[in-house]
Amino acid sequence: MQTINRLTELRAATRAIKAEDKSLALVPTMGALHAGHLQLVEEAKRRADAVAVSIFVNPTQFGPNEDLDAYPRMLEEDSAKLRAAGVDLLWAPPVSEVYPEGFATKIHVAGPSSGYCGGARPGHFDGVALVVTKLFNQVEPDIACFGEKDFQQLAVIRQFVRDLDINVEIVGVPIVRDADGLALSSRNAYLSAEDRQAALALPHALQKAREAILSGGDVALILSDAQKAILAAGFANVDYFALADAQTLAPVSALTGRPLRLLAAAKIGKTRLIDNLAVE
Ligand code: PAJ
Repeated sequence: MQTINRLTELRAATRAIKAEDKSLALVPTMGALHAGHLQLVEEAKRRADAVAVSIFVNPTQFGPNEDLDAYPRMLEEDSAKLRAAGVDLLWAPPVSEVYPEGFATKIHVAGPSSGYCGGARPGHFDGVALVVTKLFNQVEPDIACFGEKDFQQLAVIRQFVRDLDINVEIVGVPIVRDADGLALSSRNAYLSAEDRQAALALPHALQKAREAILSGGDVALILSDAQKAILAAGFANVDYFALADAQTLAPVSALTGRPLRLLAAAKIGKTRLIDNLAVE
């Protein structure tokens, strides 16, 4: 595995891959890698001849009061995991290489970025769109893999890739969960043992709501019962617990015949967890 942190070197490495007529997949990450990220790598390996992973804790997607400084950084451990997984290229640029002095461009994606995490974290998805666009232009992959764990992020990425005619195939990968059902997340490391146990209320509430909706129950009532159950389990607050169209993310209040998604975010202690589940 080649580890690269300068754009000029990256260009040379991707040119060499393309000169051999190999297809290239990119898996963008912010590091602190777990089995969820490694599942994206496996999917990328299945779909392309060569795999690049980026590790970059992107400052433009963190709000002023968010955990940018505290976000876990462990490049050596991550790099060992990626090497063992058979990754060809690790792109780990410093902030100055991605946002050099004088950087002045912004991207704003409307539509699927409004509401849910976009409402709770203003500017977050603009920062994601900006960095993912840059990563695509830097690495020039044929395909890129993203987790359904961040379902709204995936919808936003599909939106701007379509809108801006970006020639990268976007692959969504199902959520990887711990054996007990909690979705894997770098932020789970912040949870105390007690909160880790209580956090299971989130995936449980999603499952229960899904079954109730599919059996024809009243959606508004089901969503409000789910929020109550999450709070009763010890969460500090529920940002949202919603039923949405799986593509546009527009809220829906009854089964529509189209694929739907339950989307949830809630805070336990100081840690904000997100999760989602297909309803179709
Ligand atoms: P990060 O949170 O590191 O996640 C990197 C990728 O891993 C995302 O596509 C995310 O959806 C996926 N992922 C995380 N946990 C997962 C799980 N349990 N199962 C399946 N996939 C999972 O998302 C970001 O970084 C950033 O916003 C990024 C896209 C890299 C832009 O900075």
